[in-house]
Amino acid sequence: MSDVAGAAHGLYRAVFGGEPEWGYRAPGRVNLIGDHTDYNGGACLPIAIDRVCVAVSGPGEVSGSRQGMQGAAIERGRACVIDPACDELVQASSSAGTPAPGWARYVREVARGLMNTARERGTAMRRVSLAFAGDVPIGAGLSSSAALEISVCGALEQAWGIELTKRDRVLLCWKAEHRAGVPCGQMDQTASVYGEAGRAVLIGAAGEPALIPMPRRDQASILVANTKVRHELGDGAYRHLVEGCRGAAVKLGVESLCLADPSAVEDGACGLTDRERRLSRHAVREHRRALRAAELMVEMALVNRTGSRSAASGTERVGDTAWRTALGLLGGLMLESHRSLRDDYRVSCEELDMLVEVAMNSEGAYGARMTGAGFGGCIVALVQPGAVRTVEERLIDGFRRRHGRECDVMVVTASGGAGPVGMT
Ligand code: GLA
Repeated sequence: MSDVAGAAHGLYRAVFGGEPEWGYRAPGRVNLIGDHTDYNGGACLPIAIDRVCVAVSGPGEVSGSRQGMQGAAIERGRACVIDPACDELVQASSSAGTPAPGWARYVREVARGLMNTARERGTAMRRVSLAFAGDVPIGAGLSSSAALEISVCGALEQAWGIELTKRDRVLLCWKAEHRAGVPCGQMDQTASVYGEAGRAVLIGAAGEPALIPMPRRDQASILVANTKVRHELGDGAYRHLVEGCRGAAVKLGVESLCLADPSAVEDGACGLTDRERRLSRHAVREHRRALRAAELMVEMALVNRTGSRSAASGTERVGDTAWRTALGLLGGLMLESHRSLRDDYRVSCEELDMLVEVAMNSEGAYGARMTGAGFGGCIVALVQPGAVRTVEERLIDGFRRRHGRECDVMVVTASGGAGPVGMT
């Protein structure tokens, strides 16, 4: 059992005094490129990472005083009881006057969504005890909330004997996040559900998400540096962006802002405000950058395949040049993306800009950009494997010197998506 699963298991035992029967893990994500495109009908290219949330569940017997709290989910740390017999599923606080923890609204809305599905299917539901643990940094733009939603969804599905398709699990959790107050796109939930080891998930190009091979591990490493400037998506800034984009799309006469005609964005005929023009310019270009990035990665994968064949005949160097060029281009797109998020979309901040600059000035970095919604959180950098240590040190030193505190740096790998975990 992984550390995180062990922690969830231990919490369950401590709170409920028994063993959980089911467990479900869901990863966070890092977006390589394509931010603020998903709710604009455009493409993004995240990877599921090796940081996860695990939710464990078991039949929800409540004992003693808690029994009296009829029906509601009773919260205790990161644990609660969910009772389908009660419509007002999670009560606002575990004891009068204590505010509900931040996670409660996500759990509540996921459970609500799944209860509706169960009712539609005529599935009987039992009371469920639930506990969770995770190592996705919270508020860092790495999708801790989607990891929580998907893991809770999976653990409740198991307890209620329901099996959603991947697509339905994404939709249920995405709608739950909306009801919890964040009008997000589907990138985070999709990456967590569809992620695969060694693959990025291309979302929003057409139809189902497509799995795109990552560069080989000896070709590029993915570094993530966390400014620890906490972003709060529920605070209105994200909603304001979504609404701004909607307004721009109406003026441009398109349903998806990312698909607007680039010249219509610039020519002034549609009466876009300056802000709407900047938002639209980012959306239109970022969508294309994400698609181009995916194309480059596919080209690299082809080179890698033919490269290893030609290695036998002594011509590997041709392939080497090709993948290095592809990584250089990919890095260039990442930097363009950062500038666009900084100057046009205006969701970066000084700490993020500084880390991107330090990464880009380090030998061995192909590209770097802020990742996720912005307003703080993390940058992602694509780095030569041999240069990881140096880039890491430069980021940490530079950040300490400029901001007088530490940033967290980690190497992440494209990892498997959500799924059940054994409880033994
Ligand atoms: C948050 C949202 C996503 C996406 C990103 C920005 O992570 O949850 O849907 O919009 O911001 O790309």
